[in-house]
Amino acid sequence: MKEQAISLTVQLVAGERCALAASAGLIGCAPDEPSKRFLATQTLDEARHVEIFSQRLFDLGVKKGELEDVVAQYANPNLVKFAETLLEKVSAGDFVAGVVGQNIVLEGMAFSVFEMLHASMQTANPKFAKTLTGTIADERRHVGFGENRIGSLLEQYPEKKPEIQQMQKEMSHHMLATFADRFKDGAIAEQRKRAREQAGAEAVSANWKGVDLAAASSEELQNTLTNVVLNEFKVRLERLGLEYQTPD
Ligand SMILES: [Fe+2]
Ligand SMILES: [Fe+2]
Repeated sequence: MKEQAISLTVQLVAGERCALAASAGLIGCAPDEPSKRFLATQTLDEARHVEIFSQRLFDLGVKKGELEDVVAQYANPNLVKFAETLLEKVSAGDFVAGVVGQNIVLEGMAFSVFEMLHASMQTANPKFAKTLTGTIADERRHVGFGENRIGSLLEQYPEKKPEIQQMQKEMSHHMLATFADRFKDGAIAEQRKRAREQAGAEAVSANWKGVDLAAASSEELQNTLTNVVLNEFKVRLERLGLEYQTPD
């Protein structure tokens, strides 16, 4: 169970490190002062998220000197590719694609993952649930910026749409592969089963989007998360005048 907790937390650190690098990198190519200021505040938020999830690794027994090795060992290769796809746009100074990739795709995913985790941890691990509450509040603000700022920029540069949709398609592919990896070995369902046996079904029961997270199979958990994230993508992209692209 400890190894599962470390492995899960490493994915959160990897995602937040990507958000930190992306929000910091986007400040330099933002076309207006309010966007630069917002992204600077977001950079601080992401640095704090990296810090708190790294601290969770230390709390779980990872030694300070081992942090990078543990992150490299457990970070899902598909999540690494997801991050690389986004950071390529940021390195190229592509502000519009970078913000869609970060504030709509990455943070749309993070938001739902954190919400699901929060629901499953509320009674099982209130301390971690509280950490997630703060993170969720920040992510909601970041997603809002993406929607508000990018809609008008896309109206200005409609020729950018196909390239951005292609990036979304690639990022979605890597995200779905990450979810498939995380849920495939049944370790998560096994962990929930043990928690039910130890603490009692009542104590760990957690409802999210109509699914009992403590009792659901790995497959049900994966389907629920996938459906929630993809629906969010579709709605948010549509508001920006983009059409969600289904990965191959
Ligand atoms: Fe974050
Ligand atoms: Fe964020």
